[in-house]
Formats: sequence, C-alpha cells, structure tokens
Amino acid sequence: MALAQPTPTPQPTAEAPKGVTALAKPDTKWFQDDRFGMFIHFGLYSIPAGEWKGVKMGRNSYAEWIRMQQGFPNYNSEGGVGLPRKEYDELLEQFNPQGFNADEWMRLAKEAGVKYIVVTAKHHDGFALWPSKASSYNVMATPFKRDIIGELAAACKKYDINLGLYYSHWLDWGNPGGGMPPFHKPDPEPKQPTQEEYEQYWQQTVIPQVTELIEAYHPKLFWFDNFGRSPYLTEKRLDQLITLVREKSPGTLINSRIGTQHGNHSKGNAIVDYISSDDNHFPTSPLEGAWETSATMQGSWGYHKLDGNWKPVGQLIRHLVDNTSLGGNIQLNIGPMGDGRIPAPSVRRLKEIGSWMAVNGESIYGAGPVPLPAPAWGRFTGKKTPEGYRLYAHLYRMPDGRRIVLPGVTQKPRKAQYLETGFAAESEIIDGNLNLILPPANLPDDRVSVLAVDFEKPL
Ligand code: GLC
Repeated sequence: MALAQPTPTPQPTAEAPKGVTALAKPDTKWFQDDRFGMFIHFGLYSIPAGEWKGVKMGRNSYAEWIRMQQGFPNYNSEGGVGLPRKEYDELLEQFNPQGFNADEWMRLAKEAGVKYIVVTAKHHDGFALWPSKASSYNVMATPFKRDIIGELAAACKKYDINLGLYYSHWLDWGNPGGGMPPFHKPDPEPKQPTQEEYEQYWQQTVIPQVTELIEAYHPKLFWFDNFGRSPYLTEKRLDQLITLVREKSPGTLINSRIGTQHGNHSKGNAIVDYISSDDNHFPTSPLEGAWETSATMQGSWGYHKLDGNWKPVGQLIRHLVDNTSLGGNIQLNIGPMGDGRIPAPSVRRLKEIGSWMAVNGESIYGAGPVPLPAPAWGRFTGKKTPEGYRLYAHLYRMPDGRRIVLPGVTQKPRKAQYLETGFAAESEIIDGNLNLILPPANLPDDRVSVLAVDFEKPL
C-alpha cells in the first residue's frame, strides 16, 4: 500500500529579488507602433452633459466632474461640494443608452485608423460599466443592465483593435472610502477618507475590481488616473497594484498616472510602461520611452452639450503628426451622449481623420523621430523599410520656394513622391544639403500633405 507522501514546503530561492523592480516589464512595441488610440469617456455624467436641472457648468469645465461642481445647487450633505450622492444617483434610473452599439463604435474607430481604445470602465464617480461583483454601483443597477465593457471587448476583437481600460483608483465618489477632490477650498472641504477608510476601499474595491477586469476582459493596457501627489497612493499600495497586474497579466501595459509621475514612488516612471502626459499637453521635444498625449476634440472629456469649442480636423491631424515626430502617441477622446450615440461633430472628425489615414497612415504607424531639426513648414517622421529607409515630410504649408532642405544629408534619394497623388519631387545636393524641389502645383491636402522619400540607408 502506497503511503501518502508529505507535500514538500516550497523553499525560497536564495536571494530571491523582491518588489516590483524584480517583475519583468512588458514589451511596449505594439503600443509605440500603433501611435493612434481612442479615449472614450462614457458614464452616468454623459446624461446631464454639463447641465444639472437648469444650472449650467462652465463651457470649459469637464462634464464628467458634474457631481463635484462647486457652487452647484446644493452643498453636499456628505460634507463636500456639489451634488449629494442621492441626487446624482437619480441618473441610475435614467441610464438606458439604447443608442449604444459597441459594433458601430468600433467600426467607426476602425474607419478612423484607430489601433487601440481606452474606455472609462470606472471614472471618478465610482460607477462601473461592467457587472462588478465587488461593487453594486454598476450598470446592473440601471434599466440598461448590459455589460458595456464586455460588448466593447468583443467588438475590439472583431475589428482587431487593442483594448485598454481606464480605472480611477484614487478618486472614487461612489464607493465607501474612495478619495475626494483635493482642491475645493475653503469651505466646506469635501470630507477626505482617513487612511484606514481608504485602505478598506483599496482592498475591497480597487484590488478586486482590477482583478475582475483582468480576468473578464484581458485588457492590453490599464490607464490609471491620478493627477497629483496623492497621500493615498503610497509606494506600498502602488507596488501591490502593479504586482497584481504584472502577475495576473504579464503583457498588460501600465501608464504613469498610476502615481509614479508625481513622485509617489521612489522608482518613479522606471517601473511603469509608458508616460501619460498632462491633459492636452503636447511636448515639444522627444521623451524617453513610450508616451502619449490624451487629447480632447472639444474642451471636455465627457460629452458637454454647452461646449462649442470643437477643434478643427487639421489641428487634430497635426497633433498626431507632431507627437509621432517626437516618438509619442495620441489618444483622441470621444464623449458619447447619454443615449449612447457618438456626437455628430466627433463622427465627422473621425471619418475625416480616417480618410487622411487611409492615404497617409504609413507615415504614422510604426514611424518615429528623424535626426533632423523640425522644419518651419511641418514635421518629419521616418522608419526602416525592407528596401532601406523612408522619410516622410509632413507639409503643413508650402515651404518657401517649394523647396525642402535636409541639412547635412548628402544621400540622393531613390524616389520622392506625394503619398496621395504619386507626383514626384526632384532632388539635388547643394553645398552638402539635400534639396527636394516640389512639383509646381498645389499641395494635395490643405491639412497635411505627405511626401515620402526613399533612401538606401537610414539618415
Ligand atoms: C483628468 C480628469 C478626468 C479625465 C482625465 C483625462 O484626470 O480628472 O476627468 O478623465 O484627466 O486625461
């Protein structure tokens, strides 16, 4: 008769490295090649869209912040500003976005040339767009009762779009113990949780919800949100959250707004995978590693019906080119309306960006900085090709004398032609600088025209 063997106790390997720095970092190549993402702000706040029972938010306010709007009809009886939770929760009954169609949203994203999305699984109000087991403050408490994140994840798969999830891990105005806005002063200040209360929130809401998101939807990236040096995002808590993602989902990227950007962690951005710049901030020189700018189409992230400040398509395309030329990405936001439809100005912009990308996308995807100074008339991007190297001159306007000068370049290109029309430029080397002389005609695109220049070797 076989005797039961005692189970051996696992022995720690000698000098096992400890802490987040010991965990392998995922590869960011796909993210850097993708270049163009879509941010989606959608939630309860999409219904009031900047106006609460006749009281209007400023046109420059963030509509997703409506609950914490200072000076709003009632001061919050819970000790804060803005709308009392009970009043805001009237939106639960109203949340029934019959126009939401994940397939249509992702079809439009695909048409725009978008390669990844980041959707607000849970924004600062604490309301979850999936049937969370860790908090009943979720979409199942509304008449809609559909798993919005699940439907989007399936549509992403269908259209081959990478899925990213936004998760507000610091501010949470809906779950007990979550952080409150730190800047409403002088009185009454919102009542901040004690460290003990926040710890409970962290262990009972944040950790389980992030676990649920990983297990149910397998996101390729997490976009955590914090915009200051929050006393709640301690190194210990950040380590716990980073370790959770790394261990459960080793390929998933984590952005710097988890809290490393503002010095909450001694290892800083070295332990996360990419930098999220401040809102609508476009760097003017290259940053190290992977990075992105999140950009709005109007001023607000959540749909704001009173904000008429829609940015023109040309400006949005130029943002994408500017960031690519510095090695970064753009994550362009849409704020769908309370009924689930995407506002017409966003649809039009996305389609027009898509028509530009259909012609010129190769100058963006997989492309990056070029060792040449940014010219006055536009930007350069470039990438290696099987035949050598392709430089892209992005023309924001006609250069003086129809001439592009590449200082110090003495390599004659094989070919230089507009991506859209195929019309070629001539080239000559004058005093050690390559000159490309554009054809005597209008630029083919009044937003950004792209001339592709093929070289034997990288510049
Ligand atoms: C800020 C805002 C938030 C928005 C985000 C987008 O952190 O608080 O409302 O989601 O920026 O970048």
